[in-house]
Amino acid sequence: MKFSWKNQKRPILALAPMAGYTDSAFRQLVKSIEPKTICFTEFTCTEGIVYNSKNTFRQLDFNPKKEKPLIVQIFGKKPEHFATSAKVLEELGADAIDINMGCPAKKVVSSDHGSALLKNPDLAAEIVAATKNATALPVSVKTRIGISEYDPDWLIDFCKKLEKAGADLISIHGRTAKQMYKGLANWNAAYEVKKNLKIPVIGNGDIASAKDALEKLQNLDGVMVGRATIGNPWLMAEIRAAFEGKTYKKPETFEEKLPILIKHCELNVETKGEKRGMLEMRKHLAGAVKGFPGASEYRAKVVHLNTLKEAKQILNEISNHIKNEQKLNNN
Ligand SMILES: Cc1cc2nc3c(=O)[nH]c(=O)nc-3n(C[C@H](O)[C@H](O)[C@H](O)COP(=O)(O)O)c2cc1C
Repeated sequence: MKFSWKNQKRPILALAPMAGYTDSAFRQLVKSIEPKTICFTEFTCTEGIVYNSKNTFRQLDFNPKKEKPLIVQIFGKKPEHFATSAKVLEELGADAIDINMGCPAKKVVSSDHGSALLKNPDLAAEIVAATKNATALPVSVKTRIGISEYDPDWLIDFCKKLEKAGADLISIHGRTAKQMYKGLANWNAAYEVKKNLKIPVIGNGDIASAKDALEKLQNLDGVMVGRATIGNPWLMAEIRAAFEGKTYKKPETFEEKLPILIKHCELNVETKGEKRGMLEMRKHLAGAVKGFPGASEYRAKVVHLNTLKEAKQILNEISNHIKNEQKLNNN
């Protein structure tokens, strides 16, 4: 069935787009644990799509059986580039397009992409309209609450403009672009936008537990979770269970986490080849190997891993090491 934001079961639970993290392997991993998660891709440059960059298309690879519905996030500044990209992505099998109007990174903003679009609401609306006209797919926008300060009226006007231009959903990360990742996310901003819009609104920022998600949801259509899933792909299952009034028992010990860590390695190798896959896996493993005596020595080893076989060996060695330490402590 054709994907639509309106038809999604509430509350929507979305994996935030995170460049360098929410690649196909990670999305498949999260969905293997909580299948109802809606995954956003890492942001992809519209220019890369328009000019047929090999790297861009490599980044867009996805597994249609294991990741759907897949929301592909794109960034850029030219409406015609968004229109062409939307057509290409529709052909590639994306279920929806998300437009990045939130990235505060210097490199992105200095070329008028990402959160720079907040400075030019007319262009932002033109981009949404051009994308909508080019595709039958739903088009959403992910944005922040302002450029350097939060003005509720300004944000509501900005979002209304996007809605009028055809946006099907807006997700709001409760920080200004100037804040980058500092301070606490302001969720009231999203609640106010929701009160003033007809289209669905998703909130984002600082959800680290199921309890956070339950507390922050309020009048919104859903929540989007980013950083807290890194090293904790079980979080989405915990949140979904909490939304349904249930509890999810996530793995606690390294031994219990081992199958998922190995699966993540395998998915990386499957999607990127062994060399690049294991290179990318190093940061995830470094995040997972912590909190036990001797962790720093093992971390130094996992950041030099090159093959899947080595990864499996070292991860099993770590698991045995922790078990032996515990036995010694118990005796
Ligand atoms: C490493 C990293 C990469 C990110 N990449 C993107 C991106 O490609 N597109 C985007 O809209 N936001 C991106 N973000 C922002 C997240 O989607 C999210 O809005 C932000 O991290 C706040 O949510 P959280 O507190 O749940 O992490 C990124 C954040 C991080 C930490």
